[in-house]
Amino acid sequence: MSGLEAKKILLGVTGGIAAYKSAVLLRELQRSGASVRVVMTAAAQAFIAPLTFQALTGHAVSTELLDPDQESSMSHIELARWADLILVAPASADFMARLACGLANDLLSTLCLATQAPIKLAAAMNQHMWFNPATRENCRRLEVRGVEIWGPDAGLQACGEVGPGRMLEPEDLLQKVVSLYADRPLQGVRVLMTAGPTREPIDPVRFIGNRSSGHMGYALAQVLCELGAEICLVSGPVVLPTPVGVERVDVETATQMQGAVMARVETCDIFIGVAAVADYRPLAPAPQKIKKTSASVNLELVANPDILAEVAALEQGPFTVGFAAETEGLEAYAEAKRISKGVDLIAANHVGSEKGGFESDENALLLLWDGGREALPMMSKIKLAEQLGAVITKRYRTVRG
Ligand code: PMT
Repeated sequence: MSGLEAKKILLGVTGGIAAYKSAVLLRELQRSGASVRVVMTAAAQAFIAPLTFQALTGHAVSTELLDPDQESSMSHIELARWADLILVAPASADFMARLACGLANDLLSTLCLATQAPIKLAAAMNQHMWFNPATRENCRRLEVRGVEIWGPDAGLQACGEVGPGRMLEPEDLLQKVVSLYADRPLQGVRVLMTAGPTREPIDPVRFIGNRSSGHMGYALAQVLCELGAEICLVSGPVVLPTPVGVERVDVETATQMQGAVMARVETCDIFIGVAAVADYRPLAPAPQKIKKTSASVNLELVANPDILAEVAALEQGPFTVGFAAETEGLEAYAEAKRISKGVDLIAANHVGSEKGGFESDENALLLLWDGGREALPMMSKIKLAEQLGAVITKRYRTVRG
């Protein structure tokens, strides 16, 4: 259940190269259960034909304010009343300027004036247009009136420039729409998390690492964010995009991770250690690249700080969730870790096999807490994160109220 079932969304499309992505967005919204109608400006039709949206929605696309045919099927006032939400994607600089001035000189701007529904704009334009003082002022005026502006994203633009101005990707926009209606049982709860591997330098070019991809931790960060939590994600080196709405702090070594966590732990309500933190690091990393001069090399390793145990030992510390990665004796080793590290909940998984654990898109977890257990079978890491998120929420509310 996405929470969009039976929601009526009016998708406004204005003139911008990102208009082609609106068709993908429309499909995503429909797949999540929303009923979608499309209104296009004249400029939008220069980029994508109304027929595309008509075929996808099964409804005529509204384009004209004073069209007797369209007014007889569903007038602009009826459309304005019909919508639970108006999402304009892409929203061009011109459209935002007209909305900021309260103009009603085409169907979409008229609808926005006539509606009682919330209005969200997925901004998309050239970066200089975005930074122009006129656009800045328009954004301020719209935001004061409760119109929310989503994005833009930064990156390579269709015009060849690099900077902010790209429309958020359809899946990011979908997440934002979903989170508007989602149950938010963790609203106001601050969660500090770790994810990904650590790298412990041997010399300037080599390190001791592990196979963690960060997928499990990033999926959980996204899910908890959607449940309303404020997330700070301390991340080892991974090649994953930061989930929308999540604050990310990049680190490399276990000691850097410990520093980043301990600097923030006082203000968090829940701490979750998903990171595969190296238990040991080379005592004295070589200052220069080690040369191949002998048949063998001895590395002296020293123990890293145990971040999870340190957080769990804090007086009046947060509710703590640990992970246990085991190749054998899953339940016994995980239970021993739960007790020795003093955590409220531990999520144990098999690693080192073909399926689940590190790198894989799927995983299975055994959840253990004082007096309880729950097994979550093999499934995608995002689905698993949803189920784990629900258990964390329940246990946190049970223990901390
Ligand atoms: O990133 P993916 O590829 O998606 O893989 C996910 C995962 C397998 C990494 C994840 O599900 C997982 O099991 N994470 C914990 C990995 C681990 O280090 O487990 P452990 O049993 O060695 O450590 C137990 C707990 O102590 C963990 O919460 C760990 O973050 C924490 N720890 C460990 C050592 C240390 N020095 N400091 C710690 O905080």
